[in-house]
Amino acid sequence: MGWLNNTVTIITGGGSGLGKALVERFINEGGRVGVLERSGERARELAREFGDAVEVVVGDVTLYEDNVLVVQKTVARFGRLDNFVGNAGVFDFFQTLPQMDAGSISRAFDELFAVNVKAALLGAKAALAELVKSQGSLIFTVSNAGFYPGGGGPLYTASKHALVGLIRELAHELAPKVRVNGVAPGGMRTNLGGLSATGTSAQTLDQVDNLEAMLVENTPLRMAPVPADYCGPYVLLASRENSGPMTGVVINTDGGFGVRGIMKVCGGDDLH
Ligand SMILES: NC(=O)c1ccc[n+]([C@@H]2O[C@H](COP(=O)([O-])OP(=O)(O)OC[C@H]3O[C@@H](n4cnc5c(N)ncnc54)[C@H](O)[C@@H]3O)[C@@H](O)[C@H]2O)c1
Repeated sequence: MGWLNNTVTIITGGGSGLGKALVERFINEGGRVGVLERSGERARELAREFGDAVEVVVGDVTLYEDNVLVVQKTVARFGRLDNFVGNAGVFDFFQTLPQMDAGSISRAFDELFAVNVKAALLGAKAALAELVKSQGSLIFTVSNAGFYPGGGGPLYTASKHALVGLIRELAHELAPKVRVNGVAPGGMRTNLGGLSATGTSAQTLDQVDNLEAMLVENTPLRMAPVPADYCGPYVLLASRENSGPMTGVVINTDGGFGVRGIMKVCGGDDLH
C-alpha cells in the first residue's frame, strides 16, 4: 500500500500513454480509479487489466454530460471522490502558422481547444461538488508546451498556456476547499493523436521514429522518459498528507527544458 490508500481518483484519457501509466500507479499506491476514455477498445482493456480497482466509462471529455457520468459512476462504485486528473489531450504535430491551411485554422482551433482546455473546465465543474465534500484536488496534465515555444505549433502551445491560466484561476476560486495543480511533462512515446480538421487524426506520436534521440539531444538531463517516469508528481499532488499546502502550482517534469541555456544544451556536459 502507499501514498493514496483509500483514495478515489478520476483520470481522463486513462486508456493509453500517460493516463494508463497513472491508472496503474494510482492503484499501486492503494487508490481506486474512475476513467473517462473515448476509445471503447482501450476501455475494455483497462477493465480487463485492473478489474475491481477501476470503473471505466466510455465517453468524450468535451461533453459535460460524459464528465458528469464518470463522476456519478465512480462515486456510486467507490463511495467518494478525492482527485480529478484532467489528462486527455490531442496534438497539432508541430504545424506552424505558415504551414496552416487558412481554411482549416478555425476548425482545428475549436477541435484542439475543446479537448485540451474546454474539457478541463467541464471536468472541474462536474467533479466540484464531490471534491468540495472530500476537500479534494484537481490535477491537470500540462506539457513543456505550457511554458516554452517549439514543443508544438501555435495551437498546442496556446492550449497548454491557457491550461496554466485555468489552473491558476481555479486554484484562486476554489481555495480553501479544493486544491488545483498541474504537472508539465516533457516528451514521451505514446499514442498522442492529431486532429481531423488538419487530416492528422490517424497520426500518432508513436509513429515518430527518432523521438527518443530527439529528447536525449534536447534535454539537459539527456533523458527519454517513458510515461511511468512522469507519474511521481501526480501522486505527490494527489496526496493530501504530502502536498496539503500546495495549490496553483505546476510541476515541471521535462528533463530540464527551463535550464537548456543559450550556448549549449547542458552546462555540465564536460563534467566527469
Ligand atoms: N506524449 C507526449 O510527448 C506528451 C508530452 C507532454 C504532455 N502530454 C500530454 O499528456 C496527456 C496524455 O497524452 P498521451 O501522450 O498519453 O496520449 P495518448 O493518446 O496515448 O493518451 C490519451 C488518451 O486520451 C484519450 N482521448 C483523447 N481525446 C479524448 C476525448 N475527447 N475524450 C475522451 N478521451 C480522449 C485517447 O483515446 C487516449 O487513450 C495529454 O494532455 C498530452 O497533451 C503528452
